[in-house]
Amino acid sequence: MSARLVDLHNHLLPGLDDGAADLGEALAMARAAVANGITHCVCTPHMQPGKFNNDRASISAAFKQMQAALLEHNIPLRIAMSAEVRFGLEVMQQVMNNDIPLLGQWQGKPVLLLELPHHEVPFGADKLTQWLLKQGIVPMIAHPERNRGLQHNPAKLRPFVQQGCLFQLTAASVTGYFGHSTQALAEQLLKEGIVTVLASDAHNMQYRPPMLNEGRRAAELIVGEVTAIQLTSTNPWLITEPLFAEQPA
Ligand SMILES: [Fe+2]
Repeated sequence: MSARLVDLHNHLLPGLDDGAADLGEALAMARAAVANGITHCVCTPHMQPGKFNNDRASISAAFKQMQAALLEHNIPLRIAMSAEVRFGLEVMQQVMNNDIPLLGQWQGKPVLLLELPHHEVPFGADKLTQWLLKQGIVPMIAHPERNRGLQHNPAKLRPFVQQGCLFQLTAASVTGYFGHSTQALAEQLLKEGIVTVLASDAHNMQYRPPMLNEGRRAAELIVGEVTAIQLTSTNPWLITEPLFAEQPA
């Protein structure tokens, strides 16, 4: 297998959202990521106006502290920064203001990690993704398999597939941690071949630690080893390599 394991969605940066509470937990998560075989982490705090009021400046400040702490504690994890952007009309303003640290690039275009509400696919969500595509930005839909509206009716994902959106599954969904409905949709989407990447979406040490390797193995049983490596190494690296190129080695 490839030695590079790239996690492009997690909440490692401390104090910004419902992820790591403080630097101690963030460092514990970083150590756990390394133990899991993860070599590269793109930290993606929530951006959700009114709930998690993050922007490029707040994320960048926490990121620099984290990077210094990793160095100080000799933790061999390469990190970069982006964000997980909650669906809403504010996204257009955030894009126009250049507030969002985007997620690398796909086929020459920047990628935006977009989170839908968990209980439904909001009416008009595909209008927002269409608008993003018109701006030259490729939306990556975060964990569609966990969306209850899509679990009831997976066909609601069609417009996003047809538009050319990317799709990120959460590794723990594939292993069954989030229950049968989530696992079943994850398996279906993997078999359909529309999944771009797996990621940990790690939030903490206790319930949602940074585990990607288990997801890779579970995916391997569904789509085979070559595709499982594509989803956890090749594709996330293709997307995020420019972010890491900006960081010191
Ligand atoms: Fe997340």
